[in-house]
Amino acid sequence: MSTRPSTLPSTPTSLPLATRADYLVGSVIDSSTSLLAAQTHDIVRFAMGSPAPDSIPAQALSQLAPEAMGAAAPDAFDYAATQGDPALVDALVSQLDGTSDATTADRVTITSGGMQGLDLTCKLFVDPGDLVAVESPTYTNGSATALSYQAELLEVPVDADGMDVDALVALSDHAGRRPKLIYTVPTFQNPSGVTMSTPRRRRLLELAREWGSVVLDDDPYGALAFDGERPTTLHELADGDPLVVSVRTFSKTIAPGLRVGWMDTDPALQPLLIHAKQAMDTCTNLPLQRLVAAFLRHGLLDEHLATQRARYAQRKAAMQGALAEHFTGLAHWTDPAGGFFLWLTFEESVDTQRLFEVALAEGVAFIPGNAFSPAGAFPHALRLCFASSSPERIAQGVTRLRRAVDVMAGRSAATVRS
Ligand SMILES: Cc1ncc(COP(=O)(O)O)c(C=O)c1O
Repeated sequence: MSTRPSTLPSTPTSLPLATRADYLVGSVIDSSTSLLAAQTHDIVRFAMGSPAPDSIPAQALSQLAPEAMGAAAPDAFDYAATQGDPALVDALVSQLDGTSDATTADRVTITSGGMQGLDLTCKLFVDPGDLVAVESPTYTNGSATALSYQAELLEVPVDADGMDVDALVALSDHAGRRPKLIYTVPTFQNPSGVTMSTPRRRRLLELAREWGSVVLDDDPYGALAFDGERPTTLHELADGDPLVVSVRTFSKTIAPGLRVGWMDTDPALQPLLIHAKQAMDTCTNLPLQRLVAAFLRHGLLDEHLATQRARYAQRKAAMQGALAEHFTGLAHWTDPAGGFFLWLTFEESVDTQRLFEVALAEGVAFIPGNAFSPAGAFPHALRLCFASSSPERIAQGVTRLRRAVDVMAGRSAATVRS
């Protein structure tokens, strides 16, 4: 069944806004950044999906900056080529060589973060009223992007093997039409942490070919497999099929503030991507493209990723342990093999939007489950980011979360004070 957001805003002013302004639903996730910044008490932050300050190679980036940004170069602070600075494209192609994201320079378009890749894809493929299949739960900003182009959304259930492709067929049959675009976060999914199995990936590609649907392969966490074994990407399985558009970012692997990512597409699509990007931001900022290029050229990314994988594995284990201690019998949760997030679902009807307020007062933040469904499903679930807190803080945060549940239920919280 196709859905539109349950919470479409009403036009906020008497100005002659475009119809599409009604489809700008915003992001609960992004808004939580300013909400949390405004809090003055101690909060364990399981809400945002960003690396912790101690996971950002700030020192290496600062040291590289003078050389990388090349203040002496005549074009150091000029506009860049829209498709990306050649220094970054070359370094990226070398970096990806031999991985499941291996590519060639003519397929790469540098973007201002992964979000711009999602936006450019929807801009090129989604007309008002087009059906776009999204996972349920899905990455809020991805579905918000499709909605901003006035898509009708088809929410497809996710299970332990990722998007349920049989359900996609059944739902599409029921809707009486095929999706123009299928949006998936196949690996260590945001928000659930689950990974689409390889047979499902193959089946999804078969369907896309049969239906002529575009697959938007948004895979920002794949390089963060705890065991270092990245699942085979949709990009690799597609073997150059133009129907697959892959969006990647350095936000989770280096730093989100860089706002540098890339798209990997059929080369024939690039002129259109360039035109669309020129009407958006002309180019991705040049000094930071060169900074990322230098980071890659110096071989620092592999080393950094190895450290981060070990760190995130430890944090995930800490969160699993704390949840087992405090939530056994009350909730169940996923056990991701990489990435940043896990998904917790209460056995009883705990309203996680209400819980959010109580939890914030108790000193812990998360994202309520309904933020990940345009139709507002998952009122009893929530997303926890384990990546950005130390194991000690994770233990403290989960204790506080349990206390918040008890406070909301009117139970004595005396036994779970931290
Ligand atoms: C699944 C997914 N796609 C895209 C993005 C956006 O990436 P960026 O911050 O590089 O725009 C994120 C960030 O949270 C994400 O989780």
